Amino acid sequence: MGNKITNICCIGAGYVGGPTMAVIAAKCPHIKVTIVDLNVARIAAWNDENLDNLPVYEPGLAEIVSQARGRNLFFTTEVEKAIDEAQMIFISVNTPTKTYGLGKGKAADLKYIELCARQIAAVSKNDKIVVEKSTLPVRTAEAVRSILDNTGNGVKFQILSNPEFLAEGTAVEDLLSPDRVLIGGDTDEEGQAAIKALADVYAEWIPRERILTTNVWSSELSKLTANAFLAQRVSSINAMSELCEKTGADVNEVARAIGMDSRIGPKFLKASVGFGGSCFQKDILNLVYIAKSYGLNEVADYWEQVVIMNDHQKVRFAAKIVKTLYNTVSGKKIAFLGWAFKKDTNDTRESAAIQVADELLYEQANIAVFDPKVEEDKIQADLNYLDTRTKEENAKLATAFQDPYEACKDAHAIAVLTEWDEFKEYDWQRIYDNMKKPAFVFDGRAILDGKKLTDIGFVFHVIGK
Ligand code: NAD
Ligand code: UGA
Repeated sequence: MGNKITNICCIGAGYVGGPTMAVIAAKCPHIKVTIVDLNVARIAAWNDENLDNLPVYEPGLAEIVSQARGRNLFFTTEVEKAIDEAQMIFISVNTPTKTYGLGKGKAADLKYIELCARQIAAVSKNDKIVVEKSTLPVRTAEAVRSILDNTGNGVKFQILSNPEFLAEGTAVEDLLSPDRVLIGGDTDEEGQAAIKALADVYAEWIPRERILTTNVWSSELSKLTANAFLAQRVSSINAMSELCEKTGADVNEVARAIGMDSRIGPKFLKASVGFGGSCFQKDILNLVYIAKSYGLNEVADYWEQVVIMNDHQKVRFAAKIVKTLYNTVSGKKIAFLGWAFKKDTNDTRESAAIQVADELLYEQANIAVFDPKVEEDKIQADLNYLDTRTKEENAKLATAFQDPYEACKDAHAIAVLTEWDEFKEYDWQRIYDNMKKPAFVFDGRAILDGKKLTDIGFVFHVIGK
């Protein structure tokens, strides 16, 4: 196996595959990087002349893509050709929670991973390094190896685990300057050579001391552990937010006070309407499933509580709106500012907004959504996916607006679901003038100036106060 990598293939052109490979290509002009996907529309969008149409919105991504696309960065649906030509293949496909069979609702669905492994096995004619970029249950590399080693064609594979730690909204920044890059591989000579080959790619722009190497199992488990710890901090501060609301304490002040303890640290202590995103819940449930499968029930229960707390936070936010609006929202217009699971992304997977909307739709509210980066069809698809009412009912009760002032016009209440910066800059007097009175604001992200809004005349409620 040649040590210097000059040809990389990545299977999966999603939120991870796209940005990650674009940065590798931009930083390593000597490496040809080909990203493949079965989704024809997604590949077409990555190839779109108009960079506003890229399938993933991330600050700075369009610039990086335009720098490398067509030079040494290619997006294609020709999966087999790209696998055949590559020395190193990243698997970056989705690993959602299983929706059927054993482990339904908890375990990771590894069917896409297995399909990739089988395709790599079928196509490869020379030795390759296969890199797990997707987030996977600990010991998945064993299954991948078993598929790859049974091809009978003499091709040798090295399997590395290289989990991705980028956060959406800051993906490019995180990729250009990560806290660390983690590479897990076999401890024998060939495993170490494979680790070195991948480390050399990252070393083109990342200081060596930030490139951490471990065995495969530690690497796989570290990814689940990192997400579990991060999500746990959010659930911990959210648990405190409820207690703050009862006691007169202010969760922002509490977060600041504890965050100045260097052992705790100030980051990831922002109380919210609940964490969303494609990974926190999925990865914790996966961890819970793994722990249970080893009979570690206390470990499983401990982590499951993080998700239980998060669900509670979303439900109680919706319940507070209903209760405050005199116990009925039936036929009332409630404006949602934000639908994405966090600011600076167009991703809505597991967004708290979806569950809050669902709770309010049960109560027959009319939901008017404005999100700077999310379109109507996405919002409807998210609601329809819940399968709690018909498509027609969702379309009738929930509407997307292109203009925030229109979304808020004649509303009884506004709920802030995403922390987009622009919400702070709106003409709140104008919004107030056009709303039903009393005009309520429920700030699920604690981003608005409560004093200013109260002075205008709003009845203002904020999480954690
Ligand atoms: P995604 O759904 O955005 O992208 C996955 C892509 O893989 C899809 O476009 C799909 O069409 C494609 N795909 C699936 N099977 C395929 C196959 N056999 N051949 C070719 N293409 C195939 O998912 P994502 O958000 O990029 O996440 C990918 C992995 O990375 C997951 O395991 C996730 O847990 C992990 N991860 C995600 C993030 C994040 O911020 N989204 C961060 C770190 C890790
Ligand atoms: C998270 C991790 O931060 C990444 O390191 C990881 O790679 C990624 O998951 C993954 O594996 O997919 P991401 O979900 O993109 O990244 O975004 P985060 O910034 O972690 O936010 C997740 C959710 O928690 C958002 O809904 C956010 O609003 C919420 N959050 C975050 C809070 O409510 N409070 C906080 O203090 C921080």
